[in-house]
Amino acid sequence: MIVAIDGPSGAGKSTLAKRVAKELRFTYLDTGAIYRALALKILRRRVDLNDTAALSAIVQDSDIDLRGRDGQLQVILDGQDVSALIRTPEVSQMASKASAIPMVRHRLLHLQRELGRRGNVVAEGRDIGTVVFPDAQVKIYLDASIEERARRRCHELRAAGREVSLAETISEMKERDKRDSERDIAPLRKADDALAVDSSGLTADAVAEKVLQLIKSESSKLTNDRSLGI
Ligand code: DC
Repeated sequence: MIVAIDGPSGAGKSTLAKRVAKELRFTYLDTGAIYRALALKILRRRVDLNDTAALSAIVQDSDIDLRGRDGQLQVILDGQDVSALIRTPEVSQMASKASAIPMVRHRLLHLQRELGRRGNVVAEGRDIGTVVFPDAQVKIYLDASIEERARRRCHELRAAGREVSLAETISEMKERDKRDSERDIAPLRKADDALAVDSSGLTADAVAEKVLQLIKSESSKLTNDRSLGI
């Protein structure tokens, strides 16, 4: 079974996806982390996104993997654990810019589908329900107001020791939302068959509860259909 969770940054996708994966013992697939790992490499190598040859070389020869360890997600780039290095605002912006380039999306699409074959998964991102796993049995589009999303992101960054202002975070988020939803290829949008959930003012527990109910009803439908031979 595949549970797809899409939505803009800071809507609470990771918290929700981790809880659902833990509860159901599914594999958690954070697709943003894959784009972030590649963005980190682009920044480290100082590759200009307009330099198609250099970008293509990096895209072709990066080894990115996601591993679950002690309930934590580990992001491995060319054998190095980069989990803590990919959560900076610089990497966020580069991931958003690089992800608008078709060659990058094409290569990472294969990787995501490959990782999705590891069994039952909860995958979160921007285009999971529309492009990566359009046949996912459960699709959620999670959103929240920009103020609430920015407050959450500020809180996370401050907890990681980073000095950031709310105003600066709001403006970075708006810039990223705009780029992610207006790009030509696989833009952020709600799949027609996704359930829209607004997490503003809801606790993480309440959102997870709602989604777990939906998954239960979908899986009992699947079981019924199978027993009816549909
Ligand atoms: O979910 P996140 O903030 O970690 O994602 C970082 C960037 O990666 C996001 O701004 C756009 C890109 N992304 C994407 O284009 N498609 C996905 N499925 C996941 C992330």
